[in-house]
Amino acid sequence: MADQAKQSKLPIGVLISGSGTNLQAIIDAIERGDLNAEIRVVISNRAGVQGLERAHKHGLRALVINHRDFASREDFDREILTRLGELGVELVVLAGFMRLFSRVMIEAYPNRVMNIHPALSPMFPGIHGPREALDYGVRVSGCTVFFVTEGMDTGPVIIQAAIPVMDDDDEERLAARIRSEEHRIYPEAIRLYQQGRLEVVGRKVRIKDFSASNTGAIVNPRPQR
Ligand code: GRF
Repeated sequence: MADQAKQSKLPIGVLISGSGTNLQAIIDAIERGDLNAEIRVVISNRAGVQGLERAHKHGLRALVINHRDFASREDFDREILTRLGELGVELVVLAGFMRLFSRVMIEAYPNRVMNIHPALSPMFPGIHGPREALDYGVRVSGCTVFFVTEGMDTGPVIIQAAIPVMDDDDEERLAARIRSEEHRIYPEAIRLYQQGRLEVVGRKVRIKDFSASNTGAIVNPRPQR
């Protein structure tokens, strides 16, 4: 099954609400030939966002589905599901999509919805990971790609990238460093999925044919002697 998966282009749908820099990283990985996927649709719940411009620039189908037009979370999810189904989307990629899904979506796409969180899960759920890392005073933070389950930012972890938090970081600087790691690990997580190498066992993700090449610790601050 993995060999078959490796050859076929993975049909994905990318859901956004804003600037779409992760969407751009995924587009770039596909265009470079690093990711064997096809973005069948970009859906935004907000009109006029930069992510939609990125989609148009690359000739991608882009839709606005405003959550405010629906009476319930479930109805909104059903509308998105209909669109994804019509377009044969296999993996749903949330890239700065600021809505929580209901059971309706999770049950329709079990372990087939990915999201990215700007902190090392389970730390700092929600959208203010960088600020909360600074307020707490952690020395290491980062980002996490995970499979969406019910609950916020708590699903099985696929990849994490850890970076040091510096004393002179402000929210913007730390967020930018975390964001550039997101742009590396999100396409990689999708690539592992496309290759049929992600297996969810309970709340863990096992990666087939993977052996860690770098087992060194990130120590911050580094011991001075
Ligand atoms: C990122 O910080 C991501 O971690 C969070 O939303 C932000 C999306 O940024 N889920 P962008 O729209 O991809 O630029």
